[in-house]
Amino acid sequence: MDRAERLRFLKKAAGLSKQEIAVLLNPDAAFNFENANKMIENTIGILPLPLGIATNFVINGKEYIIPMATEEPSVIAAASNAAKLARRRGGFKAITNEALMIGQVQLVSIPPLLMRSARKKILLDKEELLILANSKSRSAAAKDLQVREVVDRSHNSMGRMLIVELIVDPKDSMGANTINTMCETISPKLETLTGGSSVVRIVSNYSTRRLVRCEAIFARDELGGGNIVERILYAYALAYSDPFRAVTHNKGVMNGIDSVALATGQDFRAIEAAAHAYAARDGNYRSMTLWSKTDRGDLIGSLELPIAVGTVGGVVSVHPMAKLGIKILGVRTAKELSMIMATVGLAQNLAAMRALVSEGIQKGHMRLHAKNIATMAGASGTLADVVAKRMALENIVNVQRAKEIISLIEKDDRDDHDSN
Ligand code: MEV
Repeated sequence: MDRAERLRFLKKAAGLSKQEIAVLLNPDAAFNFENANKMIENTIGILPLPLGIATNFVINGKEYIIPMATEEPSVIAAASNAAKLARRRGGFKAITNEALMIGQVQLVSIPPLLMRSARKKILLDKEELLILANSKSRSAAAKDLQVREVVDRSHNSMGRMLIVELIVDPKDSMGANTINTMCETISPKLETLTGGSSVVRIVSNYSTRRLVRCEAIFARDELGGGNIVERILYAYALAYSDPFRAVTHNKGVMNGIDSVALATGQDFRAIEAAAHAYAARDGNYRSMTLWSKTDRGDLIGSLELPIAVGTVGGVVSVHPMAKLGIKILGVRTAKELSMIMATVGLAQNLAAMRALVSEGIQKGHMRLHAKNIATMAGASGTLADVVAKRMALENIVNVQRAKEIISLIEKDDRDDHDSN
């Protein structure tokens, strides 16, 4: 499809209005310097990124059109391709857990002998502290409060501290702002109760109570046969067992997750930090995905990660492109969004491993790169495809060669025309 056809398809499939299509056609009009200037400091401009659509995704029986913002070629094609393979065996299945967030208040300078009674006093006043925290929120709800003792393990030996943790149901928001406010609100009372001094009062981005799990089966024959399945398991073995490979393997997973995060206005740094910490939860940094072979010889993969996202509040409520991203996806809840993001991560990983263990990653990259170069040399439409294909075949991909090929094709066309 060309751009106009894609937009017509999207308008129908995602139920976009004329105004929403106008935002896609002319993003500068919807989000200009003034908007940007209100969001950050010392603003000098806006950095646009390509926004594309991944297709073929079926998650829990529902079809999704997935917006992805990325500067990297092949990412969207790879995700769509893996999704196509997965749908042959029913698509992806995904679930989330209770989806709660944690906010931390760090209390220091409590004499060691008073630690126990300080903890007791806090727990005795738990209900009151929760009411206080909840007075700061209309939608998110602090559900519980727990206290842990942490000992400084750094070379500074700052001693023991009490960590009070609010357990919050953020509903469909990411939750960070509300939770930070809740933590700051209860800290004076915690200081009075314990005689300690509060230092850090903030959300924990290690959102292990906001886990998402997804899985899919990829048919052996669709993947290219038993040998490819075997080779993927070797690739996975290295990613599970060696951090040097695990980091690159997980970077591929995050190619998918971050692209959806960007397209829907999520805090991708929080998602990244949590994902990598979770990948190291047994003390070694490992593959985020798990892969094995089924009895039938198919490949089964799963991914479990903490993913804290919101469909309301934050950037989603101020950035028209983020709103559009959510609309295109057709998600109603933050849980649903997190399940989609995990699924795209799993798909991305399968596609990367499949390419790596078969033709290698460069060939696909090269084809797309060649098309970009052909376009830069002045070709468009099918001419760009023909020029790109020829350059890829010749293994000479540069603007100079693209221009020569364009001239040759134009000359051939002229000769044909003259002889007719
Ligand atoms: C490139 O952005 C991502 C890959 O390196 C991931 C991987 O190696 O699994 C292809």
